[in-house]
Amino acid sequence: MHYGSDRPEILKHDPFKAIVAPRPIGWIGTLNADGVPNLGPYSFFMPLGSAPHMIAFTSEGMKHSPANAKAQGEFTFSLATDALKHAMNVSSGSHPDGANEFELAGLTLGVSQVVGAPFVAESPAALECRTISVQPLVDIEGNTIDRYLVIGQVVQTHIRDEYIRDGRFDTAAAAPLARLGYRDYATADTLWELTRPDD
Ligand SMILES: Cc1cc2nc3c(=O)[nH]c(=O)nc-3n(C[C@H](O)[C@H](O)[C@H](O)COP(=O)(O)O)c2cc1C
Repeated sequence: MHYGSDRPEILKHDPFKAIVAPRPIGWIGTLNADGVPNLGPYSFFMPLGSAPHMIAFTSEGMKHSPANAKAQGEFTFSLATDALKHAMNVSSGSHPDGANEFELAGLTLGVSQVVGAPFVAESPAALECRTISVQPLVDIEGNTIDRYLVIGQVVQTHIRDEYIRDGRFDTAAAAPLARLGYRDYATADTLWELTRPDD
């Protein structure tokens, strides 16, 4: 099967997100203009590099997270894990501005040390970020589209002590959630190692 912009009927739903998978979930914490906490999951999310640590997410439409990240100049990332999947899902609901998804999802506000935006205290790890840019995306015709790329730089890292083992972050114990296509998820709880040719 091959196709361009017209998907064959046999594919009942767009498989794009099932193909570009698994994706980490950027669970983004922000404050709105009134200082009310906001939390939402974004799987168009990725780390951009390591020195300095930078992360990015894309919003389909100007949702609360990019709007707050732009207005306040900061946001947090919390690691969404298997144990927190139901809370993560609750936080994805279309709640109005000013709805505190931390409260709605039964989560504890983690108090950031550098930025004002809170993180998910129950999460094994979280990152405080300062917003570098919030840019609308442009397609191949040069049209500005209603999609917004938010880039941030990590200014503080939080790891719960019980997830540090032998000097490493214990990813298997944290069991991060990965987003696939449709309504599918996977859990990264089984690790294996592959050394590199230059090791
Ligand atoms: C696992 C998951 C991943 C999501 N990823 C995205 C995404 O990358 N971009 C997006 O615009 N919406 C995404 N959504 C939908 C948003 O989470 C949803 O619209 C939410 O209400 C946005 O919250 P906010 O307006 O408080 O930022 C995702 C939802 C789920 C459950």
